[in-house]
Amino acid sequence: GEVLRYDFLVRETPIDMLCETNRTILTVNGLFPGPEIRAHRGDTIYVNVTNIGPYGVTIHWHGVRQIRYPWSDGPEYVTQCLIPTNSSFLQKIILTEEEGTLWWHAHSDRTRATVHGPIIILPVGNTNYPYKFDEQHTIVIAEWYARDTKDIIDEALASGGDPDLSVAYTINGQPGDTYTCSNGSAYNITVVLGKTYLFRIIHSGMNEEMFFGIAKHNLTVVGMDGAYLKPFNTNYLMITPGQTMDVLVTANQTPGRYYMVFSPFVDTNAPSNENVTRGILQYNRNYNHSETPALPELPGFTNKSDAGNFTIRLRSLNSKEHPSTVPTSITRNITITVSVNQQPCPANQTCAGPQGQIHSASLNNISFWAPSISILQAYYNNLKGVYNETFPDKPPFVFDYTGNVSALGEAANVSTEVLMINYNEEVEIRFQGTNFGAAENHPMHLHGYSFYVVGMGDGNFNDTYISEYNTVDPPYVNTVGLPKNGWTAIRFKADNPGVWFMHCHLDRHASWGMDTVLIVREGPDKDQKMLPPPEHMPPCSGL
Ligand code: C2O
Ligand code: CU
Repeated sequence: GEVLRYDFLVRETPIDMLCETNRTILTVNGLFPGPEIRAHRGDTIYVNVTNIGPYGVTIHWHGVRQIRYPWSDGPEYVTQCLIPTNSSFLQKIILTEEEGTLWWHAHSDRTRATVHGPIIILPVGNTNYPYKFDEQHTIVIAEWYARDTKDIIDEALASGGDPDLSVAYTINGQPGDTYTCSNGSAYNITVVLGKTYLFRIIHSGMNEEMFFGIAKHNLTVVGMDGAYLKPFNTNYLMITPGQTMDVLVTANQTPGRYYMVFSPFVDTNAPSNENVTRGILQYNRNYNHSETPALPELPGFTNKSDAGNFTIRLRSLNSKEHPSTVPTSITRNITITVSVNQQPCPANQTCAGPQGQIHSASLNNISFWAPSISILQAYYNNLKGVYNETFPDKPPFVFDYTGNVSALGEAANVSTEVLMINYNEEVEIRFQGTNFGAAENHPMHLHGYSFYVVGMGDGNFNDTYISEYNTVDPPYVNTVGLPKNGWTAIRFKADNPGVWFMHCHLDRHASWGMDTVLIVREGPDKDQKMLPPPEHMPPCSGL
């Protein structure tokens, strides 16, 4: 592959949005959404990240495996400390098997709300797609907040409460014409009758899963999370924060204007901004431009069955050129309960969480506590006392995960525990959703790996489901929506040594502790070890 170079300048930028002018947000290169990185399969990309914003940040390349090189992966206090104000960090993105659409985002505090952008990975030879199209467009869905996102999370964490919700969704930075002050403007794409378009859809939103559709137009889903899918036709998508989907759309309708709409999929208990955002697909022809565009018919906000019916159709392409390699001799079997819990309010404090307690979330009843120096650097330098290698392979107690759990649930243990995995183990992780608190889908995301989603269902996992696993062509993704009150099973081969974050991609839950870290040990051979660290990492106090 080639070696490419990008410069990212992280800085505050005044933006006009909705009814506000000159709201200062953190951006890369003054752009919202941020700049696109475009490369080919197998390229190496150097990104010089310079921070002149008011606080430290980190940047993560979501879905890039970074084989043997966790040093540039980015999650704060997992692989690095913050890039301080007025300093730079030269990050290296190592592309290997990824092909399709991924994205990058800030991975410190809540800064990813405004600091994110696409990573487009073309096949070698540019035209070597397993499908045909004429043109491509990237569509980034994001959430917009009324205030600085860092202030919002800091306040929420300090009071143990729920962070403020976004006030709008945006498509490529535009809220669209359902919002006041948009002056009827919306993101639009002009199409030519008869042509086929590849839409690369990236869900950079913070907390809401989304349905998506375009009035009257068929969508052919062909890729997801930087890998190809077996094409299938649908009139709507269900996409979670963290996921990307590649979709073909042929402009084959009566020339005119058609709405494209993102509409949230929310649990009835979940707090939510039930606005939709819409853009316009318009034909490049003569017709009456003042006619109101048609709206797509999307599932309702709480339509769990339509959400599930979409997800169940995802299959990897599994062709000769892009074969699936699903691990079938599992050597490590891990069950992880995923739950929202609550913590007692410390004495002499008022807490804004439910019943006066602190909002909290956990994996196997452990609420992740980020250390103040990075776990990767502690691991590499053999520093003791930063984390414990004690994250359990099984939940600490058994309960009916999906029953009506009206009690608060056990308060989770707040600690820094990592899951140790041997090199080349064939790993299965079964995530089990629970009914504690306001249960909802959890888009579980793993750094350093894509994984095969071999099974998924409602209710409690039970061993009889193993015989129904799809081990032939399951989707190969980096983020999977664990169904509300259900389970999902994923598989991967632990062939990437390093320190890898795993967490729910709902920002609210991640900030409450629904995270853990996988440390994949090095193998005996030279090419099974981590590559050496770069000359300069952002400084950690105490290292
Ligand atoms: Cu896109 Cu750790 O996340
Ligand atoms: Cu979650």
